[in-house]
Amino acid sequence: MNDNPAPGGLSGTGTAAFAEPLPQQQVPAQTLTLRINGQDRTLAVEPRVTLLDALREYLGLTGTKKGCDRGQCGACTVLVDGQRINSCLTLAVMHDGQEITTVEGLAQDGALHPVQEAFLECDAFQCGYCTPGQICSAVAMLDEVQAGQASTVAPHAAITPGSITDDDIRERMSGNICRCGAYPNIVAAVRQVIDQRRDQRRS
Ligand code: FES
Ligand code: FES
Repeated sequence: MNDNPAPGGLSGTGTAAFAEPLPQQQVPAQTLTLRINGQDRTLAVEPRVTLLDALREYLGLTGTKKGCDRGQCGACTVLVDGQRINSCLTLAVMHDGQEITTVEGLAQDGALHPVQEAFLECDAFQCGYCTPGQICSAVAMLDEVQAGQASTVAPHAAITPGSITDDDIRERMSGNICRCGAYPNIVAAVRQVIDQRRDQRRS
């Protein structure tokens, strides 16, 4: 017979004994309004809910995908006030009053966004899981190029949409991982939109 008490002062006979679970911490919900794809959406969420979970689980906008949930894959990319962001890395309450664009909001008046069209025409996806994030990222990336923002591939050059190289496209899209390896066609799709815009400016 073992008369030694169990470690930590716990005792039990036959079945494992556990300490009492800690009482669940109640975190009061906060009410916030997000302007999502042009519509105000008011919701009540705990402060620890990510923007990604708010979109998917509270608002049913499942176009935005959860891949890694830790900022490494880009599947959750959305636009916040026009800037691309990993929605798994930010809390919904931090964006009260801000403009959120998800992949569901890119098409206008029934017409796909040119980047969406280019992804279709260039066959820039296989399983499609990364695609909403890729497309949102590309939309913002093209605006960054248009605004002349440098990248590590083109850090000093005066960036113009016409001067961007495929290496630069790859660098600027490097935050979006594709498990299927559709990268060549993704670059081709982005290139197609750049060329279309260049041709439109010339005509
Ligand atoms: S799910 Fe957000 S970066 Fe992977
Ligand atoms: S198309 Fe499958 S992960 Fe990119």
